[in-house]
Amino acid sequence: MSKPKALITRPLFPAARAILDQHFEAEYWTPQERIPRSELLKRVADKDALVCLLTEKVDEELLALAPKLRVAATVSVGYDNIDVPACTRHKVVAAHTPGVLDETTADFAWTLLMAVARRLIEGDAWMRSGTWPGWDLDQLLGGDVWGKTLGLIGFGRIGRGMARRAQGFQMRVLYHDAVRAPAEVERELRSEFADFDRLLRESDFISLHVPLLPETRHLISTPAFEKMKRTAHIINTSRGPVVDEAALAAALEQRKIAGAALDVYEHEPKVNMALIARKDVVLAPHIASATIETRTKMAVMAATNAAAVVEGRRPPNALNADAIEKE
Ligand SMILES: NC(=O)c1ccc[n+]([C@@H]2O[C@H](COP(=O)([O-])OP(=O)(O)OC[C@H]3O[C@@H](n4cnc5c(N)ncnc54)[C@H](O)[C@@H]3O)[C@@H](O)[C@H]2O)c1
Repeated sequence: MSKPKALITRPLFPAARAILDQHFEAEYWTPQERIPRSELLKRVADKDALVCLLTEKVDEELLALAPKLRVAATVSVGYDNIDVPACTRHKVVAAHTPGVLDETTADFAWTLLMAVARRLIEGDAWMRSGTWPGWDLDQLLGGDVWGKTLGLIGFGRIGRGMARRAQGFQMRVLYHDAVRAPAEVERELRSEFADFDRLLRESDFISLHVPLLPETRHLISTPAFEKMKRTAHIINTSRGPVVDEAALAAALEQRKIAGAALDVYEHEPKVNMALIARKDVVLAPHIASATIETRTKMAVMAATNAAAVVEGRRPPNALNADAIEKE
């Protein structure tokens, strides 16, 4: 009997390929450049499964062109690239990779926080320029991290990872979330629920951990910057459009806040030119989950999600299995 067919938009890692090759006649997109949309639409047309990255959109157009498709598994926890209701309408199981990247992503958000607070990137550039004259009392003065107030917007898996890290730095932690955490979680993580405005007013570091949704697009824009401390820093490892980049550049220029550290951008891979020009901004190329261990786990999880569907099982990380079963 012939195997079901899968399109995988990157060669992934050997551990994930082993699962996919066992279950599918697997077609991998191997060129270095990202799969063009036209190729994606052409190649997915006769497939039973799609394993994709956050850079590929699974939308009505794609689903309509892939009548045999049963599963779309993204190698990411954020799934704003997948139109889940459209998948449900087409009886395609959508799946993502929650849980395996929490600590790695929180590690990196913390890296960005430290880098912007302590001006590491400016210091690195100075050393490489060969112009550093040696130690002096008032060079590259940053701000303390320890003992300050951390404001977490989004207190899910990754936001809570940040709260755990903050304890080691003796920080006060405020969080804002659409859903208040259970009291025992607040106690264990020594984190206090705050409304959005209070969090903005009182935090020294504001770190974003919400998914990209219509309600979170431009959540951080001019009105939010107006409320922040002039000494505040903002860290974004969530999704780029959560921050209005033009408003961020203006807030920095007008000294409404002190700095920003970004891993994600409003129009990836483009970055607002006004931000590129600034020394008070740290820019990373969307690498918060980029460790060998974590990216391998994510790829294996996506492969496992796809394999489960063709084995007639509910994928461990399905986003719409309930909705499909109800129909
Ligand atoms: N930079 C990266 O490489 C990278 C890596 C991992 C995750 N991410 C992003 O981080 C996001 C968070 O990941 P997670 O695993 O912690 O997700 P999660 O679902 O565990 O947590 C998200 C939290 O945001 C809250 N939330 C949703 N809408 C909100 C709103 N309007 N206002 C306030 N809170 C709201 C939810 O209640 C939830 O507690 C992902 O959706 C993804 O986009 C980025």
